[in-house]
Amino acid sequence: MGIPLIVDTDPGVDDAYALTLALSDPAVDVLAVTTVFGNVDIDITTANAGRVLSLLDRVDVPVGRGAGRPLVHPAPESAAAVHGTDGLGGRADDFGEPGAVVVRRALDVLVEALEASPEPVTVAAIGPLTNIALLLATRPDLAERIRRVVIMGGAVSVSGNVTPVAEFNLWSDPEAARRVLVEEDVPVTLVPLDLTHRCTVDEGWLDRLAVTGPIARVLTGSRDTYLHHYRQALGVSEIPLHDAVAVLEAVAPGAVTTTPLPLEIDTSTGPGRAAVLADRRRLRPNPPQHRAVDAALDADVDAVRAALLDRLSRAGTARG
Ligand code: RIB
Ligand code: CA
Repeated sequence: MGIPLIVDTDPGVDDAYALTLALSDPAVDVLAVTTVFGNVDIDITTANAGRVLSLLDRVDVPVGRGAGRPLVHPAPESAAAVHGTDGLGGRADDFGEPGAVVVRRALDVLVEALEASPEPVTVAAIGPLTNIALLLATRPDLAERIRRVVIMGGAVSVSGNVTPVAEFNLWSDPEAARRVLVEEDVPVTLVPLDLTHRCTVDEGWLDRLAVTGPIARVLTGSRDTYLHHYRQALGVSEIPLHDAVAVLEAVAPGAVTTTPLPLEIDTSTGPGRAAVLADRRRLRPNPPQHRAVDAALDADVDAVRAALLDRLSRAGTARG
């Protein structure tokens, strides 16, 4: 049995790369894929999860449709401007058939996967954290079956990407993010913009991936909208595969460099909403005021890029 993994996702251009990386690794046993609102509406993120699984010829993986809105406040705007209105850069039709998978309820799929796994499960959370918060609120007994939650989200010492302080996944449901990152004690590895914005890939990298097979060609073919956004946002013709970096850490522990970081999440409705408030004081209260997560603030960025290219190239011709 490989590393047991659950992916909770809002596909999403970079989510598609992340799902491909996990599903193409023979050393990883993807127990389930659950969907959440975020980049686009839950109907579309769920259809896109089916499209990616179909493209990868992995319609055997259980799929669960999760939350279509945040825990407390109405859903803020989507990221359709970044990922396209279809969530896959306007190229959703190039992926597989959305109807190829049987879609159940996310909480049912999560509970079944966690209860059935003979060993603790890694959960890669690469969208808003609503499903994970609901899972832990409704089945706290299952927390011990989770090895760790690897979360793509937050901006610790850099600017946010939706407000000066907020990163999209946390901003989409700050109350859920606080529950998982602050109030729960399930181990968390946080992969924030601090690192993912340093692990960008350029068009040469994308072109090298594209020629490795039909699946990579479809993946990289969804770049245009995403690349257009990041040319403006970052000022360079490169794209951050945020979620793929997080899933790389989930399947290859140690791919990034982490440091324990006690933190708080701002759930106010003011300008600081969804900010990550890291406690970097040398002298801190004991007992600690906040629990610590393992924050991935550094990595050998070239090694990460190379690992992503190598692993995604393995997707090859899974579609035959
Ligand atoms: O801020 C980046 C995150 O928001 C990624 O998960 C991306 O897919 C979007 O959901
Ligand atoms: Ca995502």
